[in-house]
Amino acid sequence: MSIQFDQTTQTFHLTAKNTSYIFQIVRDGYLAHLYWGKKVNAYHHSNELRFTDRSFSANPEAEDRTFSLDTLPQEYPSFGHSDYRNPAFQVQLENGSTVTDLRYVSHTIFKGKQGLEGLPATYVEHENEAETIEITLKDDLINLIVILSYTVFENFDAITRSVRFVNEGESNLKLLKVSSANVDFRQSDFDLISLPGAWGRERYVARTELRPGMQSVESRRGASSHQQNPFMALVSKNTNEEYGEVFAFSFVYSGNFLSSVEVDQFGYSRATMGINPFDFSWLLEPGSEFQAPEVVMVYSANGLGAMSHTYHRLYRTRLCRGEFRDKLRPILINNWEATYFNFNEEKIREIALLGKNLGMELFVLDDGWFGKRDNDTTSLGDWFIDKKKLPNGLEPLANEIRDTGMEFGLWFEPEMISVDSELYREHPDWCIHVPNRRRSESRQQLILDFSRKDVCDEMISRVSAILESAPITYVKWDMNRHMSEVGSAALPPERQRETAHRYMLGLYRVMDEITSRFPHILFESCSGGGGRFDPGILYYMPQTWTSDNTDAISRLKIQYGTSLVYPTSSMGAHVSAVPNHQVDRITSLDVRGHVAMSGNFGYELDVTEMSAEEKNIVSEQVEFYKQIRPIVQFGEFYRLFNPFESNHAAWMFVSDDQLDAVLTYVKVLAEPSDAFIKVCLKGLNPDVKYHIEAIGKSFYGDELMNVGLNIPLMNGDFKSIMWHLKAE
Ligand code: DGJ
Repeated sequence: MSIQFDQTTQTFHLTAKNTSYIFQIVRDGYLAHLYWGKKVNAYHHSNELRFTDRSFSANPEAEDRTFSLDTLPQEYPSFGHSDYRNPAFQVQLENGSTVTDLRYVSHTIFKGKQGLEGLPATYVEHENEAETIEITLKDDLINLIVILSYTVFENFDAITRSVRFVNEGESNLKLLKVSSANVDFRQSDFDLISLPGAWGRERYVARTELRPGMQSVESRRGASSHQQNPFMALVSKNTNEEYGEVFAFSFVYSGNFLSSVEVDQFGYSRATMGINPFDFSWLLEPGSEFQAPEVVMVYSANGLGAMSHTYHRLYRTRLCRGEFRDKLRPILINNWEATYFNFNEEKIREIALLGKNLGMELFVLDDGWFGKRDNDTTSLGDWFIDKKKLPNGLEPLANEIRDTGMEFGLWFEPEMISVDSELYREHPDWCIHVPNRRRSESRQQLILDFSRKDVCDEMISRVSAILESAPITYVKWDMNRHMSEVGSAALPPERQRETAHRYMLGLYRVMDEITSRFPHILFESCSGGGGRFDPGILYYMPQTWTSDNTDAISRLKIQYGTSLVYPTSSMGAHVSAVPNHQVDRITSLDVRGHVAMSGNFGYELDVTEMSAEEKNIVSEQVEFYKQIRPIVQFGEFYRLFNPFESNHAAWMFVSDDQLDAVLTYVKVLAEPSDAFIKVCLKGLNPDVKYHIEAIGKSFYGDELMNVGLNIPLMNGDFKSIMWHLKAE
């Protein structure tokens, strides 16, 4: 049993493989947080709550000056009755007040885990994989029910949380803030790790000390965004890859989010994660419910590496779904950086067929095949084949490519509308907008109002019609701008601030419908690269285009940062031409290959323009990737050298049976009189002897891990190796 309730002390103890999470009902039904951390077998309140009279911390019961909510570590703190810290939620009553008072009513514990209505979430395949507790809290004055749900994935060593609000009263309530999880730590000597970035520079690792007051990681852009990722970890000061404590929070949501940490006057810290309350409210009419998305909490006593392993395993196998979840992903060739919008049928045929000859398995026709899409100013929404470019339509071309044994994939951007489109001329109110205000364009496009059912239905049918029209087995689902002038023509004034969240619910429905209608299609999400690389989207689409920046050296940081949370099988990585189109850097085909082969591998350049020598290297890379693909895509991932802290990066992949491993090492800049480098490998079986074909030598796992392996001296900038280690 992973969830136990001690009736005498009114204490809940949740235990996963190596983790305990403990809380208690105190006084008249307050839910107090006691502990989250390394597993304890039996808990007897060694850190019991202590109370004392604190000046300026108000007392809900006048006669007891030692009790204040301001000093109580809580599970889901309300606003208004003496807790001055950041509340987990806020509700406005019809009388204008925002004071609430939640108390414990009951709880139920059951095996397994239930889905969240309309939202992505982790799931179980067998009910004994997890146990769930639902705790019902109530504000008696207004008959507001709040159900806190905790699921313990025992073997995965993760705890998920979500919250449901039910209005059982007779008046309207307005939700102003709804967090999905709150943890009150009785310490604040942490560093905060997050994954900020920008377009082309997504998920760079940032680490900063906690200080008194508020610190936050958030998006207000209508998408999880390039700028921040819905992830944060509080780590002890000494934490590195292998040592130290990590308390991590990952939000299964793709829209505006807020994760914050408040260090209070007593040195406690309150971590909260949920939908961003900024420009959000939700009218909760009598009898209605609001389901908040899920937070996945992971504790590691052994540094960031172990945290990542937990997220990788859980997200790869219990968040991603569908036919492709456990399937090897194809090596693709995409025409975007090869042709941009400038192609015809012949050019596509040439690229695809040459790609096939070089061993690639999937051709992806990117942007530019529909409407009058000769550049990025037009036609989004007009999902009809451009007969100028493809005079015979899509089907014969797709068939021809498929007849060679190559799969055929297609790009869409279903959430968008160009002002210059038939769709916009017909339905100018179908975009997100606010009456009488300008409609700011970004990449000269507007966003379709996916909070509207009619808009979603039309897009489902337009995209489906194309998918039915040709033998398509892969879709790249793009999204190329963030929201502005957020409002919906279909919502009443009191619901305008629901638009951004309703958009996400609409998007999730559309994705659910399309991916279930076409289960044989592999979907890869994209948002100008990695602008929506989040667990919410991974529930529908098991891989994401990691970044529009295809430069191998930039990718070291991008892929390293992304790997903190997301499994390799979710990361698209392509070899592109040099000078690189985003940063103008020139790197060898080797280093580009080694970095791209550290993800879901592909090419994005004009293969028809390559020299014979380059084509040879490409076909060798493809051949090599086919050998290592199961280890890279589904093995355990270990970070060895951190490119944010040094002049090189290294990581490795180890198969589950520990009989195969792959080591990638990249040196960034040449240095005079540089040191000899050796790297201590990880995750190997100490007693197994591994042969490294590239150097013709064999070593036992313990030697490779404890003594380390020499990296050859390589002169010049941007040098790399990628070695396959095989058990003898
Ligand atoms: C942005 C994507 O990230 C690119 O890979 C490409 O698909 C373009 N959009 C097409 O417009």
